[in-house]
Amino acid sequence: MNIIVDKLRLEEVKKWFTDYVHTFKFVDQGIQQNIDLKEDHTMRVCNEILNIGTQLGLNDDELRLAEIIALLHDIGRFEQISRYQTFMDSKSVDHAELGVKIVKHLEVLKPFDDSIKELVYCSVKYHSKPSLPVIENEDCMFFSKLLRDADKLDIWNVVTEYYNGKGGGKNGAIVLDLPDTHGISEKIYRDLMNKSTVYIKDVKNLNDFKLLQAGWIFDINFSVTIDIIRNRRYLEMIKQTLPESKEIDEIFHLLQLRMFKS
Ligand SMILES: [Fe+2]
Repeated sequence: MNIIVDKLRLEEVKKWFTDYVHTFKFVDQGIQQNIDLKEDHTMRVCNEILNIGTQLGLNDDELRLAEIIALLHDIGRFEQISRYQTFMDSKSVDHAELGVKIVKHLEVLKPFDDSIKELVYCSVKYHSKPSLPVIENEDCMFFSKLLRDADKLDIWNVVTEYYNGKGGGKNGAIVLDLPDTHGISEKIYRDLMNKSTVYIKDVKNLNDFKLLQAGWIFDINFSVTIDIIRNRRYLEMIKQTLPESKEIDEIFHLLQLRMFKS
């Protein structure tokens, strides 16, 4: 598909994003902190997607589309946290689907061709699914993969800072208010050792959640992303915040192998 995204159009979406986010103003510091967190996350995902996209050799129009996708990918998060005070989709709403609804309802992409709109809707909709389904539209599949890699890079950035105490205090929303109890769940251990997707419904405590995030390494789509992960030492940073155990060593040994078969 020949993708054309005018510079001006990208600027309009950027401005729309900033104006939209600034409609969410809360006296409650906890909620406002999470609004700010998602705004900052979005900005960094834009940089990550441009970085990966550039290394993959995308042209300027494709990069502009990638940036729009990154800008809008978590747009549902703002309404989610304001309405339900949680980022847990299972306890509130699927934030990705809510995001698509908002973008359609507010006609954010009105000036764009239907084919471009579809690529954005599709990438946003699938970005947070535990695994990416096979999508028939090749471009949609590609941009979904790109967004999922870029999003994971910044979630690792946020959580590794948080787990290592650099997040500026406690924020239960980042870790879905999971209890910080001992041990790991048998089901999570088995899933990871089988290189299968770990589902959030099986996560029982903070250790499980860290393992779910470490297991995303099996869901990375591009070798350039693997190189970035290796350089930033995300896996090592997650592991050092987990208790020492034979099971955890086995899991991380397997995860590390994935890092070297890109
Ligand atoms: Fe995100």
